Amino acid sequence: MLRVLGINGSLRDGSHNGALLRAAPMLLPRDASFVELDGLGSVPPYSDADDVVPPPPAVAALRGALARADAVLFSTPEYNASIPGQLKTALDWASRPFPDNALRGKPVAVIGASTGMFGAVWAQADLRRVLRTIGAQVIDRELPVPFAHERFDAAGRLIDDDLADELADVLAALVALSATVFLAGQWPYPHILFPVLIWATRSLLRALIGSHRLVWTDARTRAPKPKLLAAIRLLALLLCFGVVSTAASALRAWSPGPGVLATLVAIVPYAGLWLLVTVRLPHGDAPWTALIPGALVFGAGIELLNVVIAYVITPWALAKQGTYGALGVAAALLFGLFLVSRLVVGAAVVNATLWERRRRSPGSGPGVVAGD
Ligand SMILES: Cc1cc2nc3c(=O)[nH]c(=O)nc-3n(C[C@H](O)[C@H](O)[C@H](O)COP(=O)(O)O)c2cc1C
Repeated sequence: MLRVLGINGSLRDGSHNGALLRAAPMLLPRDASFVELDGLGSVPPYSDADDVVPPPPAVAALRGALARADAVLFSTPEYNASIPGQLKTALDWASRPFPDNALRGKPVAVIGASTGMFGAVWAQADLRRVLRTIGAQVIDRELPVPFAHERFDAAGRLIDDDLADELADVLAALVALSATVFLAGQWPYPHILFPVLIWATRSLLRALIGSHRLVWTDARTRAPKPKLLAAIRLLALLLCFGVVSTAASALRAWSPGPGVLATLVAIVPYAGLWLLVTVRLPHGDAPWTALIPGALVFGAGIELLNVVIAYVITPWALAKQGTYGALGVAAALLFGLFLVSRLVVGAAVVNATLWERRRRSPGSGPGVVAGD
C-alpha cells in the first residue's frame, strides 16, 4: 500500500487548499492510502544554529512524516506571487541534512488554489523549483484552481467534476511514479531479479560443491557426483536462509535493541544451515564435527554482511535510489552474492585446513578423532 502524505501550505481554518487536499483520498487508486500532515504551523523559524540533533519536536515530526510517506501531495495558496512563508520555512527544515534529507528522491506533486483568477500558478511554479532543489522527484504537472471559493460547498466538499477529474489525473501520475520508485527501492524489477536469482543459485551451488570437492576430497578418492535430490535440498535450505535473514532484518528495523540480539542469535541458524548442507557433501575421511569451525565462520560472516547491508548499504542505497534505481540495487545484490560465494569457499577452506592439521598431528588420524 503506497502512503501519500498531503501538505496544505495554508494554516487557515476553512482553507480552500485544505478542502482540495481532502478530496484526494476519494480520487486515489485503491492501493494507495492518504494522510494529511498535522502541525505545519508549529514548525519554528529556520536557523542553522537551531538545526541540531535532536531537532525541535515539530521538525522531527515533519521529517518523520515525510520519511514515512512514499509520495507527497502539496496544495499551496499564493501569497504575493509566491509560496507562503511558513511552507517555505518547513521546506528549509525538511531540506536538512543535505543531501540525505527525507524528500530526496521522493515523488511529489504540486497543486494549488487561490481566490484570484490565476489559481496560484506562480506559487506552484516556485514550489516545484524549491522541491527540485531539495532533491524531490517532482511530477511535471500543475493544477491551478482559480476562484477557489466557487469550487466547494459549505461543508468543504468539491463540487466541480472537471476539477475532480484533473485532480484524479495528477494523483494517478503521482502514484505511478511512486510505484516505480518504491519497486526500485525495495527490489529490482522481476525481469532483473529472476536471472540474478538463477545465476546466484548456480554460483552458490558451484561454490559450495566445488570448494568441498577441491579442498576435502583426497586425490585418490573420487567424489560422488551430487544428485538432483541434494540440489533440491540445497535450494530448500537457501530458502530457509532467506527466511532467517528476513526475520533478522525485520527485527533490526523494528528496534536497535532486539536488532543486536537478532544479529547474534541469527549466527546459530546460519551455522546450522551450513552444517545441514555440508554434512551431505563428500569430504573424504573427515567426521562431521570437523565442519563446525567453518559453520561458525560462515554464520558470523553472513551476519557481518547482513549488518553492513542493514546499517550502511541500505540507508545509502535508499538515499540514492532516485539516481541509481533498480540497476543500482541489482548491482548491489550481485556484489552481495559474490561475497556470499567467497564466504562459502572461505569457510570450506577453514574446515579443510584445520582438519588437515588435526590429521597430521602425532597420535591422530582418520578413525581415532574424537566425535568420529
Ligand atoms: C498575504 C496574502 C497575499 C496573497 N497574494 C495572492 C497572490 O499573489 N495571488 C493570488 O492569486 N492570491 C493571493 N492571495 C489570495 C489567496 O491565494 C487566497 O486567500 C487563498 O484562498 C488562500 O488559500 P487558503 O484558502 O487555502 O487559505 C493572497 C492572500 C493573502 C492573505
